[in-house]
Amino acid sequence: MNNQLKTTQDFETVLRERHSVRHYDSSVSISREEIKEMLELSITAPSSSNLQPWRFLIIDKPELKEKLLPIAFNQNQVVEASAIIAVLVDMRSYDKAPEIYNRTAEFGVMNEATRDKMIENSIKMYGGLPQEVLRRINTFDAGLISMQLMLIARSKGYDTVPMGGYNADKFKEAFEVPNPLEPAILIALGKAAEEGHPSSRLTVDEVTYWNSFDK
Ligand SMILES: Cc1cc2nc3c(=O)[nH]c(=O)nc-3n(C[C@H](O)[C@H](O)[C@H](O)COP(=O)(O)O)c2cc1C
Repeated sequence: MNNQLKTTQDFETVLRERHSVRHYDSSVSISREEIKEMLELSITAPSSSNLQPWRFLIIDKPELKEKLLPIAFNQNQVVEASAIIAVLVDMRSYDKAPEIYNRTAEFGVMNEATRDKMIENSIKMYGGLPQEVLRRINTFDAGLISMQLMLIARSKGYDTVPMGGYNADKFKEAFEVPNPLEPAILIALGKAAEEGHPSSRLTVDEVTYWNSFDK
């Protein structure tokens, strides 16, 4: 196992030192084992009704990164990064409700009747939602797991940049994304060749209201 994977910085340092990185050392490869380990930690993210709508397509073959380059508007990190993690959402995530709730029931936290009701309710509710509403819920969950993944990567000494700058239709076509799946975001993952620069933030006072929106 790569030593880097064992390096974990304290949480506040990870938060403060994660910056979007757009220039990567293309000689660095990250093993599937390492990527899987980062994903294992990422999937601890919460999700609506625990339906875990996220799916991942890992693009680490050079020829596929080249294929992605124009689809991602020629953003160079696509070919320089060790891997591009496409975070997708499954628009039929509720189909997996039986597996999910059966596994939860095995923890002894709900009885069989509750489990069956949860399965039935989530299939009925999510299956009946307008696509736009479901997409919003799923995309929110994809955001939560994406953030976890980027922080986990940083804690292991790697860098990332989330990329919304790509043509989703062309991505679906080029990578033959099967129908219930839709891309949410691409995340470049690798080792920085050039550090990401700090970026400004609105202050907490500028974005926070206490109890009402009156100034
Ligand atoms: C949803 C989303 C989409 C983004 N798309 C891109 C992108 O296509 N290309 C890029 O270079 N950065 C992209 N970014 C990175 C932002 O520019 C960056 O997060 C922001 O400027 C703050 O900088 P920081 O990440 O270094 O803190 C995206 C960020 C988010 C959250």
